[in-house]
Amino acid sequence: MNYLAPSILAADFCELGKQIEIVEKAGVTCLHVDIMDGVFVPSISFGMPVFRCLKRRSKLFMDVHMMVDRPERYVEEFIKLGADGVTIHVEACGCVSDTLAMIQDHGVRAGIALNPETPISEIIPYIDIVDMVLVMTVHPGFGGQSYLPGSIDRIKMVRGMINGQSRDIRLEIDGGIYLNNLNKNLEAGADVIVAGSAVFEGDIEKNIEGFLKLLNIQ
Ligand code: DX5
Ligand code: ZN
Repeated sequence: MNYLAPSILAADFCELGKQIEIVEKAGVTCLHVDIMDGVFVPSISFGMPVFRCLKRRSKLFMDVHMMVDRPERYVEEFIKLGADGVTIHVEACGCVSDTLAMIQDHGVRAGIALNPETPISEIIPYIDIVDMVLVMTVHPGFGGQSYLPGSIDRIKMVRGMINGQSRDIRLEIDGGIYLNNLNKNLEAGADVIVAGSAVFEGDIEKNIEGFLKLLNIQ
């Protein structure tokens, strides 16, 4: 099963409620929520107050991507506010296993993310725990960047690791994904597709229709 997870980082924040409504009506089931702290990544996005409002407005699955140093400090608060999945970076967390367990203990899906320069082998200790692996296809921190070409081999490697497990583990990709490079990523094994600019720039409804068609969702 494939999923599209539009990243609201690329939304017009003055029109956030309206745009989320369009996304939901267009048949999307999941929203990607990028939390940036200005420490783990250079930029700051938004935090709990915005997420609280999003939850009030929408029933979509909230896929929270924590680009935050020591995310264990904030995970429980996002879960309390209604996160359905929380992904932490292997590079950002001193106690990855404990934090993944904390997320799952609350009945929420736990993901682990890898920056482009991080060896794939870093996730080996966690592959039998996680519900999702997020392979970053750009350097995290900003929307609208170009897809890093070396990502395909990394996705294939992670797909190989996931296929060796009996549990349902998803493989998410994030950054620089457009309709014209989607297929090769699907073929490499990605099944949760984050797209910011490609969804929110221009006609949102039409953009989503294009993605859902290629993803065989509608
Ligand atoms: C980047 C974020 C992404 C970003 C993707 O650090 O994690 O989720 O919003 O944006 P696009 O699709 O525009 O590259
Ligand atoms: Zn993200």
